[in-house]
Amino acid sequence: MSDLVRLEVTDGVATLRIDRPEQLNALNADIQARIAAAAREADRRDDIAAVVLTGGDKVFAAGADVKEMADLGYAEMAAQSARIHECFNAVAGIAKPVIAAINGYALGGGCELALCADVRFAAQNATLGQPEIKLGVIPGAGGTQRLTRLVGPSRAKEIIFSGRFVGAEEALRIGLLDRLLPATEVYPAAVEWAKQFVGGPRLALSAAKQAIDLGAGVDLATGLEIERQLFAGLFATEDRTVGMRSFVENGPGKARFTGR
Ligand code: CAA
Repeated sequence: MSDLVRLEVTDGVATLRIDRPEQLNALNADIQARIAAAAREADRRDDIAAVVLTGGDKVFAAGADVKEMADLGYAEMAAQSARIHECFNAVAGIAKPVIAAINGYALGGGCELALCADVRFAAQNATLGQPEIKLGVIPGAGGTQRLTRLVGPSRAKEIIFSGRFVGAEEALRIGLLDRLLPATEVYPAAVEWAKQFVGGPRLALSAAKQAIDLGAGVDLATGLEIERQLFAGLFATEDRTVGMRSFVENGPGKARFTGR
């Protein structure tokens, strides 16, 4: 794995780090491919319970690489946009809790990458937004869909139509962020959040994520059926046997799960 994208694992928590600060972590095609590979590895590895996405202390990511895109035509972008979707879907598809730790700018593709996480902690001076309209395009890495599902259609339209920057306080108020912290505390707080899942019931966590994410895109009856099937499926796991037996014998919250 290149230095531009690293997957660092400590005590069950993986950090997926983008490190191209001099270009504000602009997500070029190479970085996108490396994020996709890192996301698939994080999904696959049994020694990883949860994932922190970060761009470091200064910037999360200022978007897809505009300099790389500037001279592309339709045919090239049709292929490249499929790859960026593959990359972001790989991140959103990590079947484990994923948190974005946001310092500085999370704009365009950077904001869209943060939207692939399950929750978002940010610095009080973080700046989010979808400024693609100012480039004569629209968000192309899931922003029109994931932002809308998170903050609702009118807020998403206002943000995407205007391309304006959204400050951290406002982002927190509208549900685009989940917690604001002093800049130096964002990453440690995200790691702490991720740590709670180490030794957790891996399959139940994955089922909860799947039920919520799949259910968000379907009608209520279908969503309820997805939940019911996943719930019943967990009765085939060792963790649910351990969890319920531990409750009956020792009271709540004492189960030691195996992840099987
Ligand atoms: N692509 C390529 N390079 C970028 C970049 C991007 N998205 N964002 C910043 N950079 C580069 C700058 O060109 C500059 O490089 P050089 O030093 O080589 O000139 C370097 O990063 C530092 O940036 P600035 O000098 O612009 O820093 P600033 O502090 O003055 O401004 C900023 C910061 C407001 C974030 C500004 O850089 C900016 O507006 N960036 C672009 C934001 C944007 O439009 N993002 C959307 C991209 S399109 C997209 O993401 C499509 C999609 O949905 C998939």
